[in-house]
Amino acid sequence: MILVAQVSDTHFDLGTRNAERVQRVLAFLGGLRRRPDAILVTGDITDSGKPEQYAEAKLAFQTEIPLYAIPGNHDDRAGFRTALLGEPASGAPVNRVHRIGDLTIALLDSSIPGEAGGRLSEETYDWLRDALAAAPVGKPILLALHHPPARLHSPIVDEIALADPQRLADLVAADERIVAVLTGHAHSAATTTFAGRPLLVAPSTASVLAGEWELDLPDHVMDYAPDPAVSLHAIDDDHRLTTHFRTVPMAGRIGVQPG
Ligand SMILES: [Fe+2]
Repeated sequence: MILVAQVSDTHFDLGTRNAERVQRVLAFLGGLRRRPDAILVTGDITDSGKPEQYAEAKLAFQTEIPLYAIPGNHDDRAGFRTALLGEPASGAPVNRVHRIGDLTIALLDSSIPGEAGGRLSEETYDWLRDALAAAPVGKPILLALHHPPARLHSPIVDEIALADPQRLADLVAADERIVAVLTGHAHSAATTTFAGRPLLVAPSTASVLAGEWELDLPDHVMDYAPDPAVSLHAIDDDHRLTTHFRTVPMAGRIGVQPG
C-alpha cells in the first residue's frame, strides 16, 4: 500500500493562525503510526503570492516526509519557484512528476497568472502527454491540480473552476492507469466523478467555503470556525484507491489514547 496525504489551500498570510493550522496538520501526519509516503499540497500555498509568505511556507514545509506542492490562483509562479523549488524565477507553469514506488503523481499547474479561474496551458498539456508516455506501463497514476474540472455545487468555486474540462476528461478517459484526479480550490472535502474516475477535492487547512445550500448569509461564505482537515489516499497493490478525510483538532492533544 502507498499512502499519500493531501493538504490544500494553506493560504500562508504572515498571520499566526493559518501557519499554526498547517503546523498542526503536518505534526499529525508526521505522528501517524504509518506515515504517509508523500504529502501533496494542492495550491493556494500563499494568500497573495508575497515572497515573505513563501518564506513562511518554506519554513513550515520542512518535514521528514517528502512534500510536493503546486500553485493555485492565489500564488505567484515566480515566487513559488524561487522560494519553494530553489529555481530561477519564471512565469512558466510549474508542472512536476514524482514516483513513489509504482505510483506516478503528475502535478499540473492550472493557475492563470492574475486570474482566479484555472486552465491548463498548451505547454502543460504537452508536458502531461510526455509524462504519461514516460510513466510505467500498467502502474497507477494520480493527477493533481488546483482547480476542480467539474461542478461542485459551490457557487463561488464553480464560477472559477477549470476551463475546458472536456479536454482533460478526454485525456483521462483514454488512460486506464489514471486512478483519480486530486484537486483543492473548493475549501471543502468533496468527492465526485470525472471522466469515470474519482475526483477528490481536499479540504483547506485554512477555512471552509459554503456550498449552495449554505448561502443564506452572503457575508458568511467562508467559515473560519472548523478545525483544519486533510485527505489520506491509500493506493493498494491492485491500484484500488481508498480516501479518508481527517479533521485535526487545534485544541487538545493529537492522537489516540493508548489502551
Ligand atoms: Fe484557496
